[in-house]
Amino acid sequence: MGEIDPAFIQSIEHRPKLTVTDPGEIPVIDLSALDSGAVDLLVADIGKACEEWGFFQVINHGVPLEVVRRIEAAMKEFFDQSIDEKRKVKRDEAKAMGYHDSEHTKNVRDWKEVLDIAVEDPMVISASPDPQDQELTEYHNQWPEYPPEFRKIWKEYAGETEKLAVKLLELISLSLGLAGDRLIEFFQGQTSLIRLNHYPPCPWPELALGVGRHKDAGALTVLFQDGVGGLEVKRKADGEWVGVKPIPNAYIINVGDVIQVWSNDKYESVEHRVVANSEKERFSIPFFFFPAHHVNVKPLEELTNEENPPKFKEYNWGKFMATRNRSDFKKQAVENIQIHHFRVSEQ
Ligand code: OGA
Ligand code: NI
Repeated sequence: MGEIDPAFIQSIEHRPKLTVTDPGEIPVIDLSALDSGAVDLLVADIGKACEEWGFFQVINHGVPLEVVRRIEAAMKEFFDQSIDEKRKVKRDEAKAMGYHDSEHTKNVRDWKEVLDIAVEDPMVISASPDPQDQELTEYHNQWPEYPPEFRKIWKEYAGETEKLAVKLLELISLSLGLAGDRLIEFFQGQTSLIRLNHYPPCPWPELALGVGRHKDAGALTVLFQDGVGGLEVKRKADGEWVGVKPIPNAYIINVGDVIQVWSNDKYESVEHRVVANSEKERFSIPFFFFPAHHVNVKPLEELTNEENPPKFKEYNWGKFMATRNRSDFKKQAVENIQIHHFRVSEQ
């Protein structure tokens, strides 16, 4: 079996429990209510799920199943290729989109490989983390040569999941007591991306994680997972890690840091991780719904007042991203930038 590369080994307190995690009670929300007109109830359910869990699953979401089946087949074909073939589209410091097999989360290597593709091509983003530097840069997608119809399949999938993300953003806006279209302006020139995740079988599931514990930095994540399972969410009620049960064809939705800040902590971005599996490979497809680079993220005025003053200082999304991206390729001596660095200190 060989030895595990120490870069993958989690410190003892972050290693997963290998006993079966109870599946938790992560809410499952039926979006067909959108067609039947029972929107108020739906909005209330979504608000409750965002407050209590930060995570929920949706069924009857409108993404056609054949579109999902096609991207699943295409991603499997892509990841089944040789490492040399995959590295033809590899990500590096100049090309932020593409294939990557050595991502580190909190300085520990993840047991996975990914293919990142931006929803807007080119993606316009700040050139450097320096707040004084106004320069912008463009990220271009790198398209695999195989399977040949990959690009077409991906675009079709992206169009459908973007519609779902927009629908969910509206419902979340409504649940915060805002107009349905209050938040969409921040996504004109979005920096969203779709990540194709492949978690190969791992001989050391007690030491390594598919993805280490983290919170998603963007506004919303809309994730499709296959039937293998492994995603775990930190339950707000008691800090226990609970499994997200795979429901065939459902999407998993979670609130990211940006919504936490906009909502002034009403909806918290919750920690999650992926446990490795010694037998089965696993695939998942998150759509990371990210604002435009020029958006300054801060608690919304409508949601703050004298009794509930802003809990965060504003930060620029593009600069935040540029700071994060710099740390993707090397282990850093310091903690990655996080929203708590913008938290107003409590007196
Ligand atoms: C992520 C993530 C979960 C999964 O990529 O940010 O949390 O189930 N993925 O793959
Ligand atoms: Ni995540």
